[in-house]
Formats: sequence, C-alpha cells, structure tokens
Amino acid sequence: MGTMGNNKIAILLSGRGSNFVAIYDAIRRGKLDAEICCVISNLADATGLRLAQEWGLPALCIPSKGMDRAEYDRRLVEALKPHAPALVCLAGFMRILSPVFIAAFPSRVLNIHPALLPSFPGLHAQRQALDHGVKISGCTVHFADEGMDTGPIVMQRAVPVLEGDDENALSARILEQEHDVYWRAIAHTLAKISAKNAEN
Ligand code: GRF
Repeated sequence: MGTMGNNKIAILLSGRGSNFVAIYDAIRRGKLDAEICCVISNLADATGLRLAQEWGLPALCIPSKGMDRAEYDRRLVEALKPHAPALVCLAGFMRILSPVFIAAFPSRVLNIHPALLPSFPGLHAQRQALDHGVKISGCTVHFADEGMDTGPIVMQRAVPVLEGDDENALSARILEQEHDVYWRAIAHTLAKISAKNAEN
C-alpha cells in the first residue's frame, strides 16, 4: 500500500463506537495506513459520533427513524460519495443495508460481528453462543451484503468460552479481539484493492 492508492475509509456506527476508536488508534499509531474520511451515525446520541466530532473528523448524523430503508440508504450513499471512500466500515451500525447501498459500494463494505460466522448472526451473538454451550466463539470481519451478517469472510479470531462466563465476560473477551482484528482486516483489504487497481 502507500500514498498512491486511495486509503480513505468511511465509518458507519450507531452507538458506543469502540471499534471505531480502535481503528482511529491504529491509524494514529501508524499501524494502519488509512484516513477516516467520514463518520456517519444513524442515531444523534451515539458516543462514537460525539468522539468523531471531538477529534475533528468529518462526522454527521443521518437520522434513520421512520425512514424508508431504500430512501435512507440513498441518503447515506449521497453523503458518502463525495468522500470517495475506498472502503465503508460498519462498526456497530445497527441496520441492514439495502441493495441500493451495496450496489453503490460493491465489495467495498466491511462489517464486524461478535461471533464466528456463519454461527450466530443477528443480535446478541454472544448470548446465542452461551445458550448453545459452544466452547469456542470469536469474531468475524466480512464483506457485507444485503443479508444479516452474511457475505464473504475476510478474517476471524477464535475466543474461548470459559467456565462461568456470562454475556458480559464473553463479550468483553471477544471485543478485545475485535479491536485488534478489524484494523488488520481493513489493512489487508485496502492492500488487495490497491493491488487490483494497479493491475488495471
Ligand atoms: C461490536 O460487538 C460489533 O461486533 C457489533 O456491534 C458491536 C459494536 O460495538 N457489530 P462498538 O460500538 O464498536 O463498541
């Protein structure tokens, strides 16, 4: 990679934003060669949005409440396109994307999920893992499509489920790995995109 390729990434989030913070830190520390060109939240009170604004990143809320899904996604695309991100990274963005969005950024949308997909998609993945009694769970970075936590897998981390784990303990152990694997998956994907672009 390097300064030649487009290394701009956009972040979509809905809440706490700890994955966004981990990506931001990896960039700041020089581990990830990328630039956050835009942070968008669908909820005005998302902590991640507040942090992005504090840090002077281009950040905005596009409220999703009561909006038609395709119409919402058209607005998202409209807001993102001028920034020309190489990648759009979902980081706790609690919405399923419509074909409108996926078509605008084909093979350019990453998501992180707190389970070893295709096991336990959807909400409360860690609780689902505990309910099933799995001994190993983890997290997955994958290309997002129109499904719920579906699409080709980029990287995974296995995390042991320990005796006596509750949802909080397991979630915290998985989250630590999320914070390390997401920026690596982004670096890997940006490198692949720029290699592909160099071919053409
Ligand atoms: C993470 O567990 C992520 O895997 C899931 O939503 C959560 C977001 O957490 N998609 P945060 O907002 O990044 O702290």
